[in-house]
Amino acid sequence: MDYIKKDFAEILYTREQIRQRVEELGRQITADYDGKHPIVVCILKGAGMFMADLIREIRTPINIDFMAVSSYGSGTESSGVIKIKKDMDRNPDGRHILIVEDIVDTGRTLSRLKEELEKRGAVSVKICTFLNKPSRRVIPVQVDYCGYEVGDEFIVGYGIDYDERYRNVPFIGTLKRDIYENK
Ligand code: IMP
Ligand code: MG
Repeated sequence: MDYIKKDFAEILYTREQIRQRVEELGRQITADYDGKHPIVVCILKGAGMFMADLIREIRTPINIDFMAVSSYGSGTESSGVIKIKKDMDRNPDGRHILIVEDIVDTGRTLSRLKEELEKRGAVSVKICTFLNKPSRRVIPVQVDYCGYEVGDEFIVGYGIDYDERYRNVPFIGTLKRDIYENK
């Protein structure tokens, strides 16, 4: 484990803390969606680990689906347009949709995605994000369920990457400066 841990400046949430928080979210979602049979849609790849844990804590019938969208251009800021790289298999028309995301940052990705699914006839579209960065918001978007609110710092682990690395790390934290600088 040390070969990964040494890259981190700070561990924000441990595996055990995350497990407990996801359990709480699952309980809340179970109560809110009981009898509604929602489609829970995971946004790949960042939310993959969160999705796998979360749906095991939802104790009411659901369908699951997956989408991959890109909003980032070349830099680290997301652009206003989203490109659907992989669409969901099921038709959202007439269904309740719960989007499962890793981080809501500027809000651009999810505000556009929510609009798109509403346009396709979803009865309701709600957002469950593992991390929320309200201080970074450019486009307002309602976050219905959130694991943790974090500040304006770059975070990795628990599915979330820096340059496609650290997704497999079971905790959440920030990287040391030299990891970015020595790239
Ligand atoms: P936005 O809300 O449209 O700006 O896009 C949010 C997306 O940006 C997230 O789903 C992540 O893929 C990425 N992102 C934002 N902040 C971070 C971070 O701290 N670490 C890693 N990826 C991030
Ligand atoms: Mg993402």
